[in-house]
Amino acid sequence: MSAHLAPLDDADPSTADLIAARPHLSLHAMDGLLMEGVPLNAIADALGSPTWVLSAGCIRGRLRQLQDAMAGLPMQVHYAVKANDHLAVLRLVGQAGAGADVVSGGELQRALLAGIPAAHIVFSGVGKSIAELRQALQAGVGQINAESAEELAMLSAVADGMGVTAQVALRINPDVDAGTHAKITTGRADNKFGIAYDDAAALYAHAAGLPGLRPVGLALHIGSQIMSMAPYRAAYARTAELVRALRAAGQVVEAVDCGGGLGIPYRNEPSASPAAFAGAICAALGGLDVRLAIEPGRWLVGPAGVLLASVILSKTTAGRRFVVLDAAMNDLARPAMYDAWHGVVPVSAVDAVRPATPADIVGPVCETGDTLARQRALPLLAADARLAILDAGAYGSVMSSTYNARPLAAQVMVDGSRWSVIRARQPVAALWAGESTPDWFG
Ligand code: LLP
Repeated sequence: MSAHLAPLDDADPSTADLIAARPHLSLHAMDGLLMEGVPLNAIADALGSPTWVLSAGCIRGRLRQLQDAMAGLPMQVHYAVKANDHLAVLRLVGQAGAGADVVSGGELQRALLAGIPAAHIVFSGVGKSIAELRQALQAGVGQINAESAEELAMLSAVADGMGVTAQVALRINPDVDAGTHAKITTGRADNKFGIAYDDAAALYAHAAGLPGLRPVGLALHIGSQIMSMAPYRAAYARTAELVRALRAAGQVVEAVDCGGGLGIPYRNEPSASPAAFAGAICAALGGLDVRLAIEPGRWLVGPAGVLLASVILSKTTAGRRFVVLDAAMNDLARPAMYDAWHGVVPVSAVDAVRPATPADIVGPVCETGDTLARQRALPLLAADARLAILDAGAYGSVMSSTYNARPLAAQVMVDGSRWSVIRARQPVAALWAGESTPDWFG
């Protein structure tokens, strides 16, 4: 059983518990569910639904918590842009001192556009194209994490051709099981990521001899939604061992990129803390005199977001109750993709305290997989009643599609008592704006 899938026999947390565990949310007797000082009803009244709503205060506070936990270490936080690549999020974390971890030319452009200095950007990923490597070197990114001998050869050729030196870290695959969902584990030997642990020392020496490359250290990332420290400890111990072996062989190792992956309690799972994460890093790598970095995504932004949705209708089929929302798997893919559990709470204060019975919460997309939550205690909900799907700030809007010709939802950022539309709802005509029919159709 992965930490990602909550055991079925556990009692679900109540609406009150879900709200109480998220300090940026509260329930007001008249205004209903608030994010910071803003009633979610006010946002839905103005913009309709589905709408993503993100708490700036929550993101800022979590980044500070992480930075404080790491304060005793020579540590740079590189926000994993993939978790939520909105420019407002990037600007927020950049202004608060975070760099960025990017995995495509597009993410690199977003990070630069948001004002994150190139020197604080690390380029990760298993398949960077020659054009992307060139783009990264042109921008002057601080580090490129290479994942194979083949990529080192490509990078060397590109850098040498441009007359520059690429600062490169070797992403190793420590062969550690992160104990998370199979689709988001990345540090096992049979995953596509990284350089096999046993090959890393020889490849490091090889890289040091290639033109245009300067190996600066090691990188690793063992998976996402990791809830216990044991896999981190094992992976960092192996990394430290490799740093020592490389140095003994005469190599220079200045930096270790410890990856991301710190999990959050979607349901009521015991959560890993930034302090424990810092402790695991410090224990293995703290005494090595290396620059350290982490690449958190989900932990920083996941809890900060909700997906606001409205009930289209409720129905009972063969004794099973279904609540059909205007949000669907094309908006929030995580339940369909990873069987992920997201809390769902009513926005109306009256709905939040009324007697509840189990219901499946589904979207209108024509797939059985379009089930956002199964057998949740919900009151009878009238058409247009609103629900908030929790912890949707990471891997939510960024993974949306327009399947079933459903436009991308609007996005809002809340900060104290202010709120602002940070992305307008996509007009439906935008869906076919770039399409054409072959001219031979006549
Ligand atoms: N660094 C690298 C190299 C990564 O591949 C990732 C995530 C991160 C950092 C950030 O991991 P985080 O701190 O967010 O766990 N879509 C999935 C998660 C995919 C994670 C992919 N890599 C989900 O919704 O659960």
